Amino acid sequence: MKFSPKSNRDQGLNARVEAPVTVKAYLLCAFAAFGGILFGYDSGYISGVLAMDYFKQEFGHPGSTDTTNAYNGYLYHTWEKSLITSILSAGTFFGALFAGSVSDWIGRRDTVIAGCGIFSVGVILQVASTEVGLLVAGRIIAGLGVGFVSATIIMYMSEIAPKAVRGAIVSGYQFAITIGLLLASCVAQGTHNRMDSGSYRIPIAIQFLWAIILAGGLALLPESPRYYVKKDRIEAAAKSLATLRGQPADSEYVQAELAELIANYRHEMEFMKTSWADCFSGGWSPGGNLRRVVLGTAMQCFQQFTGINFIMYYGTTFFQQVGMDNSFLYSVITNVVNVVSTPVSFWTIEKFGRRPLLIWGAVGMLFAEFIVAIVGTAAPGSNAAGIVLIVFVCIYIFFFASTWGPAAWVVIGEVYPLPIRAKGVALATASNWLWNFVLGYVTPYMVDADQGNLGPKVFFVWGSTCTLCALFAYFMVPETKGLSLEQVDQMLQETTPQNSSKWVPHDRFADEKTIQDVAKATGVTRVVEAEV
Ligand code: BGC
Repeated sequence: MKFSPKSNRDQGLNARVEAPVTVKAYLLCAFAAFGGILFGYDSGYISGVLAMDYFKQEFGHPGSTDTTNAYNGYLYHTWEKSLITSILSAGTFFGALFAGSVSDWIGRRDTVIAGCGIFSVGVILQVASTEVGLLVAGRIIAGLGVGFVSATIIMYMSEIAPKAVRGAIVSGYQFAITIGLLLASCVAQGTHNRMDSGSYRIPIAIQFLWAIILAGGLALLPESPRYYVKKDRIEAAAKSLATLRGQPADSEYVQAELAELIANYRHEMEFMKTSWADCFSGGWSPGGNLRRVVLGTAMQCFQQFTGINFIMYYGTTFFQQVGMDNSFLYSVITNVVNVVSTPVSFWTIEKFGRRPLLIWGAVGMLFAEFIVAIVGTAAPGSNAAGIVLIVFVCIYIFFFASTWGPAAWVVIGEVYPLPIRAKGVALATASNWLWNFVLGYVTPYMVDADQGNLGPKVFFVWGSTCTLCALFAYFMVPETKGLSLEQVDQMLQETTPQNSSKWVPHDRFADEKTIQDVAKATGVTRVVEAEV
C-alpha cells in the first residue's frame, strides 16, 4: 500500500483524470435523484392515511375499546395496521432483488422506467380499493415497482456521477426521499378531515405524477457508460460518457476515463464472474466480494435499526398515543426537519467523508433517543415532557437526515466491483426493505396500548440498536470519498476500514491495448496518453 503523507485524494495522479464538473453534468446526474420522491412518498402517505377518521370507518371494524385511536369505535386490528404498512416493503424486497438481474440485462435506465410502469399498476389498485384486501394487493405491486427503482437508481447515479461530487449527488436521492415523505404528510394533512373517499384516494392517486415525471425524464438521459462497458459496447459507452461529462467523445478526458473503467473491468473479469454465486466469493479477505456484500447488506440493516421509520410510519399515531394534540402537525414538523437537515450532507459527505458521518451520526442519534426514552418514561403525559419529546425527536431526525440517511445509500453505490455491482446493490437495497418490513411489522406490537404498551420506552430499544450502528460504522465502513469506483475497488483490497482514508491512488489500470481499443471505437487516431 502506498501512503503518501503529503498527497491527498484531490491531488497528483487523481486530480486530472476526470473532466471538470459542469452544471449540465450536475443537472443530468441530479435528475435521477427524483426516484427518491417515489420511494419517500409511497412509504410516507400510509402513516397519515391510517390516522384518518374516514379511513378508520371504511377499513376498520366497530367495537374498538382503544378510545384515543378509534373513530366512533371503528379501528383496525393490529395485524391489519401492520400488514397495510409493511406489505409495501415486502414487495420492494422482491422488486429490488429482481432488479439485480434485470438491470444487467436491459440496462439501468430501462429497469427504472419498467419499475415506474409496475408501480403505476399498483397505484391503480390502491385507488380502487375499498377494503383491506385490494389495498394490500396494490401496495405489494407498487412495492415491486419501488424496489426496481430504488435498487437501480442508486447504482445508476453512482455510475454516472463525477467522482468529486458522487457523494453529494447520491445524497440528493435521500433528499428526494425526504421531500417525498414530506409531500405525503402535507397531502394527508390537507385531506384528513374529508369524510369521503377523497381523503385517502387523493393522496394515493397523486403518485402517478411522480412515476410519469421519473420515467419521462429518464427516457431522455443517457444509459450508464459502465453498463455499456459490461456489455462490451465501447462506442456507446464513449457517447454516454461524453454527454455526461459535457465533452466531445474524442476529448482526452473522456478517452482516459473510459480507458480506466474498461481496463479495470477487464482486470476484474480475469478472476471474477457475474453470477449471484460470485457475490459470495472471496471470503473475508479485504476486498473480497463476500465482505463487500456483508458490508452493504449490514449497512442497510443498521440504517433501519436507527429506528427512523418508527417516526416516519407511526409518528402520527405515536404522538396521539402519548396524549399530544395536533399529532398531524407534529408529523409534518418532523418531516420538515428531515427535509431541511439532509442538504447538510451534500457538503459534509465530501468534506469529512462517509466514515465520520456514519460514526458521529450514530452517536448523536443514540443520545437523543435515550433522552426521549428517559423523559417520556419519567413524566408520561405532562406538557413539559411532551415538548422535550418532540424537541429530541427532531434532534434525532436531524442526525439521521444529515448522516445515516444519505451515507448508507452513498456507500452501497460505491463498494462493489462492476461485475457484481448490480447484484450487490440489489442485495443491500433488499436488506433495507427486509428490515424495513420486519421493523414496520413488529413495532406496533411493541408499542400499542393493547399490546406490548412500550410507548416512549421503545426509544430505549432504538438507542441500544443505534449504539450497534456506531460500532458497525467504526469497524466495517471504509472511506470512499474522492475516488473513482475503480479506485475504491483497489483501495478496498489494500486497506482496512480504519486506515482506508489515508489511501491515495497510485497506479493506472489502462494498458496500451485498452487505450488503443478506446481510440479505435471512438474513431480517434491520436492515442490517449496513459498519464494525463
Ligand atoms: C430510509 C427509509 C426512511 C427514510 C427517511 C431512507 O434512507 O431507507 O427507510 O424512511 O430514509 O428519510
